[in-house]
This record gives sequence, structure tokens and C-alpha cells, in this order.
Amino acid sequence: MLETAATHGLHEATRRSLQAMPKELPPVWLYDARGSRFYDEITRLPDYYLPRREAEIMQARTSLIAERTKARTLVELGSGSAPNTRFLLDALSRTLERYVPIDVSEQALHDSAERIAAAYPAISVEPVVGDFERDFGTTPGDGPRLVAFLGSTIGNLYPAQRAAFLSALALELGDDDALLLGVDLVKDVGRLEAAYDDPSGVTEAFVRNALRAVNRELEATFGQERFDYDLLWDPADEWMDVGLRARESHLVSVRRLGLELDFAEGERLRVEISAKFRREALELELERAGLSPKSWWTDAAGDFAVVLAHPPS
Ligand SMILES: C[S@@+](CC[C@H](N)C(=O)[O-])C[C@H]1O[C@@H](n2cnc3c(N)ncnc32)[C@H](O)[C@@H]1O
Repeated sequence: MLETAATHGLHEATRRSLQAMPKELPPVWLYDARGSRFYDEITRLPDYYLPRREAEIMQARTSLIAERTKARTLVELGSGSAPNTRFLLDALSRTLERYVPIDVSEQALHDSAERIAAAYPAISVEPVVGDFERDFGTTPGDGPRLVAFLGSTIGNLYPAQRAAFLSALALELGDDDALLLGVDLVKDVGRLEAAYDDPSGVTEAFVRNALRAVNRELEATFGQERFDYDLLWDPADEWMDVGLRARESHLVSVRRLGLELDFAEGERLRVEISAKFRREALELELERAGLSPKSWWTDAAGDFAVVLAHPPS
């Protein structure tokens, strides 16, 4: 595989994460073509309530969002198969000219862009393969722009990373632009655990796929049989900590990074966090980043929220 600036950035981030304590893989490794297919399967699991709750909110609120934003460009960060985007595309039909989805998962991005282009021929669909933390500033499109960040993907970022990302985004937004953010809310731990640990094992397969991707792309020697799937709720940080735990002490080499990793028996490898949010704290975070949260909508059960935020006027 050729090393580009983008893969170099990911490789360096992977080196730092694997040398950290606890050891960790950047969650981007979850989303190769196979991982994106697993994620789509997860969204259909009965206990993975997030996309359905978000859909309920979007169905009820997108006319108002369209009226308020009058967006000509819809940019979607981490769009994946864009299951709830159609609510926005339908509601914005009078003003929308361009849809610009950004995702690292190239195949999933192109498949969904093709489907959307066929279903909405009046809109120009311009997919960008890239990292939303790095490449947002390069996306095309005239204002007013609506930037959608759905599916609670923001929960995969650490608080400091989230703050830096939101501040950078706020600086890129023009006066007429807006951010639409979908976030999962803090709730009963049993329901959160059920959402990330389905009995059919799809979530485990999704997480294990990150090892497979790293073995392939970085010539690593992670053995699936040497790790168990491991899920923790972190009550202090209020995030699900999703990863793998070494069954025995062993060495793993990551040849392309020149690393030899020593795993102790029981040692964890974190693969993603999924932070859960509370209204007051998230609104404060948005304000600190230079964004004014104007609306906060939840589903009837209060499981999920969608926030519309603007640069301060
Ligand atoms: C949790 S899924 C959500 C997908 C979709 N928005 C939804 O609601 O179903 C996260 C998506 O973000 C993409 N992704 C994760 N990290 C990314 C990054 N740093 N830059 C761009 N895309 C990223 C993944 O490939 C995946 O499609």
C-alpha cells in the first residue's frame, strides 16, 4: 500500500495510541468496507436504539430545520450509509443545491452517494473521501450551509479532541451556516450495555474487524483468538469503553510501524469510546467552542437529542 499524507497521519496516530496506556487503536480502523457493512447491520439490531430515535426526531423537526437554515449546501460528516439524511434532503428540497458527504470509508461513501444521487437528481452529490477532523475546510459549496453530524459519531471523540474539533468547525462556519448534531444521551447502564453487546455477536465482529484491518494494512500480527470482546461503562467519563482484552500474555508486532507490543494477560486494547451526553454540559461545550445552541430536540422517550447550533450573531 502506498503511503499518502492521509495514511501517514493515521499511521502516526496509531503509533501514539498503541504506545499509550491503556493501549488503543484509533476508531477509524473500524471502518473499512467490511466494517461499514457490520455497522449497517448494527443499526438494525433491536437493542441499538440510536438510529431509530434519531429518525423519530428528524421526522418531526426537519421542516423547521429547513425553514430556519434555508441551506443551499448540506455537508455531512461521517455520513456512512446516511440512513437519516433523507429527512433533511426531503425537507430542504426548495433550497438545496449540493450534498457533500465526507467519510473515511470509501466504498460505503460511494455506495450511499450513488443511491442519493439517483433518488435526488436535482441535487449535485459531491462525496469527499477524507477525515472530517482534517478535511472539513476543503469541502465545496455555497452558503447557507448546514453541517450535519449524525449518529452520535461525535461521541467517538475524547472531550479535548471534541473541543478542538468544534472550535475549528465554528471558525469555518459563515454567519448563515448551521451545525446539526445528533447525540446519544446518558441513560440506564443496562440499556447502554445491551446496545453494544448483542447476543448475535455483530458488534463483537465489528470491533474485531479493526484487528483484521490493522493486520492487513500495517502488517500486524494481532491474533483474534488471543483476545476477548470487552465492554465497560465508565461512570466518571460517562462513556462506553469498547475494546478487547488479552486472554494471555503475548507479543504483537506491527511491522509497518516498527513496533513490538507486549500484552499482559488481561490487558485491554481500547478500540473506541462512545460518549453519552447531558444537555447542560453539551450546550456549554458548544458555547465554549463558539457555537450557539438554538434548539434541542429529543425523541419521546428522551433517549437521543438533535441540536441545531449557529455561529453567534
Ligand atoms: C457511527 S457511524 C455513523 C454513520 C452515519 N452517520 C449514521 O448515522 O448511521 C460513523 C461514521 O463516521 C465515519 N468516520 C469515523 N471517523 C471518521 C473520520 N475521522 N473522518 C471521516 N469519517 C469518519 C465512519 O466511516 C462511519 O461511516
